[in-house]
Amino acid sequence: MDSLLKKRTLSLAVLAGIFSLGLHAETTGKRVPTNIPQPEKGQYVHVPPTMDDLEKSSMHPELKRVIRRGRDLFVNTQQLRGKNVFNDMNCNSCHMGEGRLPFSAPVWPAAVVLPNYRPKNDHVNNLEERIAGCFSYSMNGTPPEYGSDNMVALATYHQWLAKGVPVYQSGKTMYGRGYPKLPEPAEGMSYERGKQVYQENCSICHAEDGSGLRQNGEVVFPPVWGDASYNWGAGITRNFTLSSFVKHNMPLGQPNSLTDQQSWDVAYYINSHERPQDPRYTGDVKETRKKYLETFHKHTNYGLEVNGKLLGDHENLGGEKDFLKPDVLRARTYTAD
Ligand code: HEC
Ligand code: HEC
Repeated sequence: MDSLLKKRTLSLAVLAGIFSLGLHAETTGKRVPTNIPQPEKGQYVHVPPTMDDLEKSSMHPELKRVIRRGRDLFVNTQQLRGKNVFNDMNCNSCHMGEGRLPFSAPVWPAAVVLPNYRPKNDHVNNLEERIAGCFSYSMNGTPPEYGSDNMVALATYHQWLAKGVPVYQSGKTMYGRGYPKLPEPAEGMSYERGKQVYQENCSICHAEDGSGLRQNGEVVFPPVWGDASYNWGAGITRNFTLSSFVKHNMPLGQPNSLTDQQSWDVAYYINSHERPQDPRYTGDVKETRKKYLETFHKHTNYGLEVNGKLLGDHENLGGEKDFLKPDVLRARTYTAD
C-alpha cells in the first residue's frame, strides 16, 4: 500500500508539472495550447486574465481582495465542507485550470450569457443561481446564500475572468465553452471495454473502487463514483458530458490521448456505479427518471438496470448530506409583470 501511495503521489507531482507548464504557455503567450482542438473560423476566443494580471492591475485593492477570495473558494471549495459542500469536490475538479481552461467548461461564459432561460429548471437564471446549481448537484451540497460574502466573491471571480468579453453574444460560438459533445460512438457504449480503459488509464489515481485518494485529510485525487462524488443530478452524470470531459482533460496531463470510443466507454463504465441520490428524488427512482427524462435523465444511467442492479434505487441519500432539495431547487416562477 505504501509503495502504491508513493507511486500515485509521484505521478501526480510529475504530471502536475507538465500540466502547469502547458497552462503557463497558454496564459502567458496568449495562445491556445497545441494539444487541444484549435479554434474554428468565426469562433470567439477569449483568454481570461491571470492572478498575475490581477496583482499588476490598477483595480481597487478591495475589489482585488474579493476576486482573490473568489478564486480561493473556487480552487479550495473544501473549506466549505459540511456547510455547503458534502463531497470531495472542488469547483476546480471539473473546471480545471482555475476555471480558465478551454474544453473544461471554463466559467467565464456564464458571466456574459446570463441572465437567461435554462431548460433544466425552466426559468430565468442569473449568475448566482447558475453557481448555486453546481453546489446543489456537483458538490452534493447546498449553495451559499444569494448575496452572501462567499457567493458575491465567487460571482465576482467569474465576472473578472470574463473581462473584456461582450455581454449577450451567442454562447454557441465561444471557443472551448462547456464540454462539447463528441461524435456518437460508432460501437455504442460498453461496460466491459470501459472497465478496461479505466483500469489501464485511470485507476492509478482514482482507485479501482472509484474512491480517489485522500491524504492527511486533503483530497489528492477526487472520487469518480461513490458517496464522496457528485450526485445523480449533476450535469457530468450525462454520458455525453462525461465522455467529453474525459476526452479533453483526462488522464491528467495527457488530454486528447484517448479515442472518442474509449472516452464514451469509460464514461459509461463510471456512470454504471452508484453515487448520492438526485436531490430532486420523488421517493421513487423510476418516477424521478421519468419526470426529468426529457430535460436530463435520457442522457444518464439513473433509474436503469445495469448488470442486474437498478441504479439510484436507494432510499438513503448516500454521502454525508442528510437532506434532499436545497432551497434553490424549489420551483420558482418569475411572477411580476
Ligand atoms: C462534478 C463536476 C463539476 C463540479 C465539481 C462543478 N461543476 Fe460547474 N459545471 C459542471 C458541468 C457538467 C457544467 C455544464 C457544462 C456544459 O454545459 O457542457 C457546469 C457548468 C458550470 C457553469 C456554467 C458555464 C457556462 O459555460 O455557462 C458555471 C458558472 C459553473 N459550472 C460553476 C461552478 C462552480 C462555481 C463550482 C463549485 C462551487 C462548480 N461549477 C463545480 C460540472 C461541475
Ligand atoms: C495522474 C492522476 C490522474 C489520472 C491518471 C486520471 N485522473 Fe482524473 N483527475 C485527476 C485530478 C487531480 C482531478 C481533479 C482536477 C484538478 O483538481 O485539477 C481529476 C478529475 C477527474 C474527474 C472530475 C472530478 C471527479 O472526481 O469526478 C473525472 C470524471 C476524472 N478525473 C476521470 C478520469 C478518467 C476517466 C481517467 C482515465 C481515462 C482519469 N481521470 C485519469 C487525476 C487523474
